[in-house]
Amino acid sequence: MTTTRTALVTGASRGIGLRIARQLAEAGYALTLSARREAGLLEATTELRATGADVTPVVANLAAEEDLHRLVAAHTDRFHRLDLLVLNGGVGAQGSVADLPLKTYDLVLNVNLRAQFLLIQRTLPLLRAAAAATPERGAKIVALASITGVAGEQGLAAYGASKAGLISLCETVTLEESGNGVTATALSPGYVDTDMTAWKRDELDADAMLTTGDVAELVLAVSRLSAHAVVPNIVLTRAGGQLWRA
Ligand SMILES: NC(=O)c1ccc[n+]([C@@H]2O[C@H](COP(=O)([O-])OP(=O)(O)OC[C@H]3O[C@@H](n4cnc5c(N)ncnc54)[C@H](OP(=O)(O)O)[C@@H]3O)[C@@H](O)[C@H]2O)c1
Repeated sequence: MTTTRTALVTGASRGIGLRIARQLAEAGYALTLSARREAGLLEATTELRATGADVTPVVANLAAEEDLHRLVAAHTDRFHRLDLLVLNGGVGAQGSVADLPLKTYDLVLNVNLRAQFLLIQRTLPLLRAAAAATPERGAKIVALASITGVAGEQGLAAYGASKAGLISLCETVTLEESGNGVTATALSPGYVDTDMTAWKRDELDADAMLTTGDVAELVLAVSRLSAHAVVPNIVLTRAGGQLWRA
């Protein structure tokens, strides 16, 4: 088993995931990175390798079960331990309860919640192995939820439900796995300036949104906590008048 700290980051080709990957690489983590589309993932890999980072890219669709098994197998073969699982990859979808097609609901729940359940389940042996090797630090899961999972928002029916589920899943993992040194934190930001929020820019200037750096900073902070401390959910809100809203 490697003694280097390792992390697996989904949705790492751009946006929040790429920013997290950059900061983890800088902090000395060896990385397995995944995304659905190869071109963006290889571009991110090339960028990080140029800084000296140890990066294994794995093309994997979060909606495809076999891809997720392949992703975990690739990380296992390479490292045999996992110190930090960053469940970042996800998809946005607009639509009200009255109108959202069930097909869209299923896709959002599969990509934003079912995949995360499977990845946690399949990586638990690796997380427990890392926690046993570094008991003072333990092993962590950080999942990108959303403030919409904390307080529902009109027009984001499936998205909010998927993120509320993810917050609950993190709590259960901590309750069940703390004894093995594995804990989970949900991270619930309001609007962050990425491709995902491009649709919102007509009403909300990019400058009024959170930055990917704000989110990555919190992932790093959680990764540095001792095994004695758990933050179940971090709500990150934009400055201004909306406080608990996106
Ligand atoms: N931006 C926000 O305002 C905001 C706020 C709160 C929470 N979040 C959450 O933060 C996470 C990252 O968001 P972001 O804004 O950085 O999104 P983004 O810029 O749209 O990037 C999404 C990332 O996820 C990957 N991805 C999307 N669908 C996938 C699929 N089916 N299988 C595998 N990978 C997939 C993308 O890769 P490909 O391009 O290859 O598909 C990309 O790397 C998401 O979980 C999102 O819900 C975002």
